Amino acid sequence: MEMKRFVGQVAVVTGAAGGIGKACALRFAQEGANVACLDMALERNQATAQECRSSGVEALALTCNVTDPDSIKAAVSDTLAAWGHVDILVASAGIYTGSPLVEVPLKQWQRLIDINLTGVFLTNQAVAPLLMGQRSGSIINISSMAGKTSWPASAEYSAAKSGVIGLTRSVAMELAPFGATANAVCPGNTVTDMVQNVAGIIGGRDGVEVAEWLRLRAADCPMKRMAEPWEIAGVVAFLASNDSRYLTGQAIEVDGGMVMS
Ligand SMILES: NC(=O)c1ccc[n+]([C@@H]2O[C@H](COP(=O)([O-])OP(=O)(O)OC[C@H]3O[C@@H](n4cnc5c(N)ncnc54)[C@H](O)[C@@H]3O)[C@@H](O)[C@H]2O)c1
Repeated sequence: MEMKRFVGQVAVVTGAAGGIGKACALRFAQEGANVACLDMALERNQATAQECRSSGVEALALTCNVTDPDSIKAAVSDTLAAWGHVDILVASAGIYTGSPLVEVPLKQWQRLIDINLTGVFLTNQAVAPLLMGQRSGSIINISSMAGKTSWPASAEYSAAKSGVIGLTRSVAMELAPFGATANAVCPGNTVTDMVQNVAGIIGGRDGVEVAEWLRLRAADCPMKRMAEPWEIAGVVAFLASNDSRYLTGQAIEVDGGMVMS
C-alpha cells in the first residue's frame, strides 16, 4: 500500500541535486510533501525539482551554498513565501576529501569542515526557530558511519561527521520542549557520485582501480553490497513521520551492519 504521510507538509532538502539528498526529496514528494530542493548544482537541482513535481506536489529548485548564511536565509525565505511553513529539514549537502594526516592541507580541512559541519549548523540554525514556533517538525542531518568509526586518511571527513552527531544531539535538546525532533542518519557506502569520488581518491592512492575498490568495500559489508540512496531515504522519511515522535537525539546507522553499537 502506498503511504502518503506528508500531505500538506513542506520539506527542505540540502544536497538535493544528487545521491541521498535527491532520493530524500523524491521520497517526500511521493508521500505528498511540497519540497524545496537546495543545491549549488543548478541544472541537476532543477531536474530533481521537476521529478518531484511528477508526484503531483509543488517543488522549488533553489540555488544555495550551505556555507553561506545569506544564501540559506534567502532559500528559507523563498520557501516560506511559497508555502508559509517548514516541517522537515534534511541536511545532506556534503563532499569527501581525504589525505594521510600529515599531508592534509589546512585549506582542504577548512573547506570540508565548512561544507560538511558548518553547513549543517547553519541550515539547522535557520530552520530550528520555525519548528519551535509551530511546535512540531523534524530535522534529519546526514552524518556517516565515519562519524562513529574511522579509517586512515579521513581526518577531516570523520571529524566533521562526528561533529554532526554532537551538533544534532544539542539541537535535539533545544527542540525537545517544543515537540520537534532532530536525529542524524549514518549511511554506510551508498551508490552515489560521492562513493565513486571516494573510490577514485582512496583507490588512486592505494593503487586500486575504482571498480575493484567498490567491489572490495561491498565485500566488507555484512550484507555484501552497498546501499541504494532510496534505502537511506526510507529511514529519513521514518524519522520525519508520526511513527517517530518520541525518537530524538539519535545517530542511526543505515549501513548493512558495518558498525554496530
Ligand atoms: N555516498 C556515500 O557512500 C555516503 C556515505 C555516508 C554518508 N554520506 C553523506 O551523505 C550526504 C550526501 O552524499 P551523496 O553520497 O548523496 O553525495 P553526492 O555528491 O551525490 O551529493 C551531494 C550533493 O551536495 C551538493 N553540495 C556540495 N557542496 C554544497 C554546498 N556547499 N552547498 C550546497 N550543496 C552542496 C552537491 O552539489 C551534491 O548535489 C553527504 O553528507 C555525505 O557525506 C554519503
